[in-house]
Amino acid sequence: MIIPGYGMAVAQAQHTVNEITKVLRAQGKNVRFGIHPVAGRMPGHMNVLLAEAKVPYDIVFEMDEINEDFANVDVSIVIGANDIVNPSALDDPNSPIAGMPVLECWKSRSTIVLKRSMATGYAGVGNPLFVHHNTRMLFGDANESMQAVLKAINR
Ligand code: TAP
Repeated sequence: MIIPGYGMAVAQAQHTVNEITKVLRAQGKNVRFGIHPVAGRMPGHMNVLLAEAKVPYDIVFEMDEINEDFANVDVSIVIGANDIVNPSALDDPNSPIAGMPVLECWKSRSTIVLKRSMATGYAGVGNPLFVHHNTRMLFGDANESMQAVLKAINR
């Protein structure tokens, strides 16, 4: 499950993400995208970027369509997203984002988060996902990281 956020837009990583998607699907992997309604900085931001990169529409899902399914997901790849995957929205009533529905990727078998640092996102709140036992951080510009991954899986 690929979860794009504002950082994918900043890095303009959508084309590389599409290339990786093509390689993985050719290997028979079930690749899907999970889109949070406020991912990015404007409504439909992620859908526009993915459409521009020619990611097939039928593998792009809205949050409500796939949020129950994370227990069946092997790997979640979070690309430059932060607030939209913050578990404290659900379990910390004092969080500034308390009550906001989020993509529950920490329920998948493992999660890889691509971002440049441990910095906060738009809401300015820390994210326990980054230190969750099933999470691995891949630091760097999301497009550079995705290009390195593409090179590795094409070897
Ligand atoms: P954010 O919570 O803003 O997180 C984006 C993350 O991307 C940042 O933590 C940043 O971490 C990372 N990033 C930035 N540049 C990057 C790059 N070049 N490569 C890799 N990572 C990069 O974004 P989100 O998860 O998409 O959530 C959206 C937020 O915006 C929500 O709080 C939402 O309420 C708010 N908002 C949304 C809208 C609409 S309508 N979509 C409108 C206004 C506000 P690093 O700095 O560590 O890299």
